[in-house]
Amino acid sequence: MRPYVIVNVASSIDGKISNEQRIQLRISCEEDLKRVDELRASVDAIMVGIGTILVDNPKLNIKSEELRKKRIGDGLKPNPIKVIVDSKCRIPEDSEVLKGEAIVAVAKIANKERIERISKKAEVVVFGEEKVDLKLLMEYLYGRGIRKLLVEGGGTLISSLISEALVDDIFIYFAPIFIGGSNSPTICDGRSFEKPVEMELVSIKKLGKGILIHLKPKVPLSP
Ligand SMILES: NC(=O)c1ccc[n+]([C@@H]2O[C@H](COP(=O)([O-])OP(=O)(O)OC[C@H]3O[C@@H](n4cnc5c(N)ncnc54)[C@H](OP(=O)(O)O)[C@@H]3O)[C@@H](O)[C@H]2O)c1
Repeated sequence: MRPYVIVNVASSIDGKISNEQRIQLRISCEEDLKRVDELRASVDAIMVGIGTILVDNPKLNIKSEELRKKRIGDGLKPNPIKVIVDSKCRIPEDSEVLKGEAIVAVAKIANKERIERISKKAEVVVFGEEKVDLKLLMEYLYGRGIRKLLVEGGGTLISSLISEALVDDIFIYFAPIFIGGSNSPTICDGRSFEKPVEMELVSIKKLGKGILIHLKPKVPLSP
């Protein structure tokens, strides 16, 4: 069994989620940020790849105090648990995500001293040899009580999750901007798939200045 997995990402109209310098860009609009905050408030955990942590150092907390209070009223922690996919345990000790409850998923190649150091700040789990084994990680997260997981990028992690059929919903906010750059990160990076992965278009709607599209895998995936 694994959690229900929702991917959410903000993209330019040319499919880029950052620029070639990998500087954090404001792609979303106010309306979309509000939607993402509500999405965060509805999940047990938020997952990102180490690439995103190293460049953006995000907090990944719920911004609305009202939403945090509602979670507390529902018997939940104010913020979801953060899950970082980080084979070599490269996460800096002062990362924002380590200031709350966090799980750092590493692979066997990770340096033991680094694991020891990060273990003082977060729960460190080991799955896979050179890369984090995402299927095993998902099973572990389910066993840990995580039923709904939001993945907030980046493109390399999203690509692995799609290719391993570990995604249930994908939300992409397309802002009417071009970022350009053949080396800019995109929604789905990593290696190209053997054949295109077909998705079903659930809905498309105008949101703020851009559009929000909701996709689901063509073949329903069993948990
Ligand atoms: N616009 C948006 O919504 C948005 C959201 C998030 C991020 N971003 C942007 O995306 C960029 C970062 O994306 P990214 O693709 O470089 O990094 P990423 O997807 O955040 O992290 C990828 C890294 O995760 C680690 N990893 C470990 N096991 C893995 C597995 N099984 N599958 C995939 N990855 C695994 C790998 O590094 P190790 O081998 O070292 O572990 C890999 O390089 C940044 O520029 C950021 O600003 C944009």
